[in-house]
Amino acid sequence: MMSARAIVTRGPLIPVLTIADPAHASPLAKALLAGGVTVLEVTLRTPAALEAISEIVRTCPAAAVGAGTIRDPDQLAAAIDAGAAFGVSPGTTTRLAAAAVESGLAFLPGAATASEAMTLAECGFDVVKFFPADAAGGVATLRAWQAPLPDLRFCPTGGVTRDNAADYLALANVACVGGSWVAPAGRVAAADWAGITDLARAATEHLTR
Ligand code: 3PG
Repeated sequence: MMSARAIVTRGPLIPVLTIADPAHASPLAKALLAGGVTVLEVTLRTPAALEAISEIVRTCPAAAVGAGTIRDPDQLAAAIDAGAAFGVSPGTTTRLAAAAVESGLAFLPGAATASEAMTLAECGFDVVKFFPADAAGGVATLRAWQAPLPDLRFCPTGGVTRDNAADYLALANVACVGGSWVAPAGRVAAADWAGITDLARAATEHLTR
């Protein structure tokens, strides 16, 4: 089982994927792998999400596929059953944090304030999803947290784009960034796998950690 640190240090970018058609899961994952992206987050926002995760686990062993938008312990359990290698949440409840710790699954719990990040550190989490990154102050907020929260690492997500990702990654407390820009819904719906490989390659070549 991979740790949260291992997940977020595998590459500079975790694409946030919303998959409506399970038949898209495997070709989408292969397109991203071809572009150098090996960690994928499939959000639990569609009825197809759990099947999509299982399909990627089955067909793309080189990918570390996680489940995103986990909001409660039942969704966490379903993600683990589907084979997810890690979990991500937009924010954190007491019940979800306890279930995530208990499960042993690598988990990136969401926080938008210093108090939330400190509460998560108390629970034992050392990597936190900073969400919604852009709306919660972006690079300036993370820079301000460096001195008082030196032990925490962040994965900013929400409003991260090709244009600002490098600014986040330049911060010592940013482990990687998350975002949907490498797999836009329109390209997925159009099965534009070559176009998604190009976006992934552009991101991985342009971004370093
Ligand atoms: C998330 O779930 O982390 C966000 O919806 C992704 O945000 P983005 O679409 O702004 O990249």
